[in-house]
Amino acid sequence: MIGVYDSGYGGLTVLAALRAALPEHSFVFLGDNGRAPYGDRDSGTILDFSEQCIERLFDEGCRLVVVACHTVSCIALRHLQSRYGGSERRILGVTIPAAEMAVAQLAASGGEAVGWLGTTRTVLSRTPQIEIAKLQPRLKVHLLAAPLLVPIVEEGLEDSSLAELAVDHYLRQLPTVDTLVLGCTHYPLLLPIFRRLAPPGVTVLDPARFVAERLIDWLRRHPGFSTPREGGGGLRLLGSGDPRLVGPRAARLYGAPLPPVEHVAETGGRLAHRLLPEQPLGQVLR
Ligand code: DGL
Repeated sequence: MIGVYDSGYGGLTVLAALRAALPEHSFVFLGDNGRAPYGDRDSGTILDFSEQCIERLFDEGCRLVVVACHTVSCIALRHLQSRYGGSERRILGVTIPAAEMAVAQLAASGGEAVGWLGTTRTVLSRTPQIEIAKLQPRLKVHLLAAPLLVPIVEEGLEDSSLAELAVDHYLRQLPTVDTLVLGCTHYPLLLPIFRRLAPPGVTVLDPARFVAERLIDWLRRHPGFSTPREGGGGLRLLGSGDPRLVGPRAARLYGAPLPPVEHVAETGGRLAHRLLPEQPLGQVLR
């Protein structure tokens, strides 16, 4: 069973790509909608929230968690991997696959400049620039924060003229690039607008498909971390937001019916742990 974690709805775009690529694997998706968006929060809060969400997914029985959220991948992945990872449990992110995808695209097209749109916290981290430089130091990377886009998607306005205006606003701020990475889970929901409004010759990339390809390859090399089930894997959805609000929007964004959202309450600033069945205590068997 594979855990997928995002701050909110946008991670459903990654979940859809992962399930399409690995239909026989079971998934548990945790969306921290009750506390999204993360993108303007400070790094300490993002570390704290992401620890709680990862712990909950491990509680659910996942041995592998994919952090679909670009902000968390940029800020917290190394920390989460060193705190929780090991021979029994693993955590993977999206920034390195997205960087690899951009570098491969530029190598194929002969381009040398990449634009990377993300949240404010992603851009301040400079992680995409650092990861691309490790792969291909000569490439120019232009990071741009696009903070209006997440609330537009969270509000369900991804097909509106407001969305067009906002996308146009950010595209105008970018210098000339050959490839544009949508480095935030929510932006692929605006992909048709990006493709329509981007200058001719610019390739707009949604990293989700490449994240799925990398995961297939990873599971081939680490077969014990999720067991495929003949006839298709299951899906559970967990969310910290109000399930009555989250459920219908989630299904619309995912593009297919989804199971009901199971609420994960937040009390005193902490996400609840799963209630484990009570163990009989106080009796010594001889
Ligand atoms: N999931 C976040 C990301 O991919 C976007 C939404 C947020 O700001 O929480 O960066």
